Amino acid sequence: MPKISNKGINMPESPIRKLVPFAEEANKRGKKVYYLNIGQPDIKTPTLALDAVKIHSLDILAYSRSEGSEEYRKKIAKYYKNNAIEVTHNDIIVTTGGSEALLFAFGSIMDEGDEIIIPEPFYANYNGFSTASSINVVPVISKIENNFALPPIEEFEKLITPKTKAILICNPGNPTGYMYSKEEIKKLASIVKKHDLFLIADEVYREFVYDGDPHYSILQEPGLEAHGIVIDSVSKRYSMCGARIGYLVSKNKDVITTALKFAQARLSPPTLAQIAAEAALDTPKSYFDEVRQEYMKRRDVLIEGLERIPGVKVAKPNGAFYCIAELPIKNSDDFARWLLESFDYENSTVMVAPAAGFYSTSGVGKNQIRIAYVLNEESLRVAIKVLAEALKVYKD
Ligand SMILES: Cc1ncc(COP(=O)(O)O)c(C=O)c1O
Repeated sequence: MPKISNKGINMPESPIRKLVPFAEEANKRGKKVYYLNIGQPDIKTPTLALDAVKIHSLDILAYSRSEGSEEYRKKIAKYYKNNAIEVTHNDIIVTTGGSEALLFAFGSIMDEGDEIIIPEPFYANYNGFSTASSINVVPVISKIENNFALPPIEEFEKLITPKTKAILICNPGNPTGYMYSKEEIKKLASIVKKHDLFLIADEVYREFVYDGDPHYSILQEPGLEAHGIVIDSVSKRYSMCGARIGYLVSKNKDVITTALKFAQARLSPPTLAQIAAEAALDTPKSYFDEVRQEYMKRRDVLIEGLERIPGVKVAKPNGAFYCIAELPIKNSDDFARWLLESFDYENSTVMVAPAAGFYSTSGVGKNQIRIAYVLNEESLRVAIKVLAEALKVYKD
């Protein structure tokens, strides 16, 4: 029997998707499952994006340029300019989702065994992308007690070794919902400059910020030109997860030239989806105002509801559409499975993401879950009620 690679064996399972078979079983048994586990928004995709695909005039569905069509990249640069970010189309590579942008970034700046420091909890697939790239994640713990704010800079400095190549942040954060302030970005900028590291910022949720200050991108921070790499995506911004379009943005020419070689190896990002994503850039501001209002309402319903459940601790998110909740249980993997297999309240149950998979320090986050508030207000209220009833009867 030919053998599977060690890398393949070590690839982590998605903590979000591994419970899917149990949810399918619950559905088959006639239970209504409220899905709080996955960041698939229920918000409608802008019709102008969908229409652009319907009315295109292509004769041949050809490859596009490896870096994405020039017209589209010019429009992306304009989008950034409207958001007070100065980049040109030459600083942008269009990718197959933010996922591929992450892989290209890792491949362009790190070799086998290199280290990347990431505040945890973090987007679980960072673990998978790191394994695929043969690099090591070095976590720095952020805490629910202070809403998952940036850990003190000294904590980062303690972890820097000759192998450290980059710091990766997600801003605003999945799964924490925390948005880093301008001051926090400045702290990170000073440390990456001092130690000559890259700073990768995953800003795919940049449009989803709620109260207080506006989002501050690392691309707005002066002096970070050589260090900064932004990961971006249309998936959540326009509720276009299935388009599979994202981008890598950097003012560092060497990063772009190198990432382009990875892009050339996979030939091109999807052509039809670029047409849809380019049209999506004409989405009026009112769309985002409405979407933001909707998420803010859901966030408030969720946080108030969770805070009323005895023993539940929750960090208040001010961006993205996730939150981490600490529950009065020992093992959220077991709890999440039990919810699907053995529990119902008025024939309904909820699917949540156990949070341990969002940490790379083993044993941390075992009593936490991640909740995505991607359901409408009414469903969210029922889901919170179901969770509250479940916690009344659950025994670890
Ligand atoms: C923080 C973060 N980064 C990147 C991605 C990748 O998204 P996509 O490949 O759909 O652009 C996701 C998807 O959920 C995400 O939450």
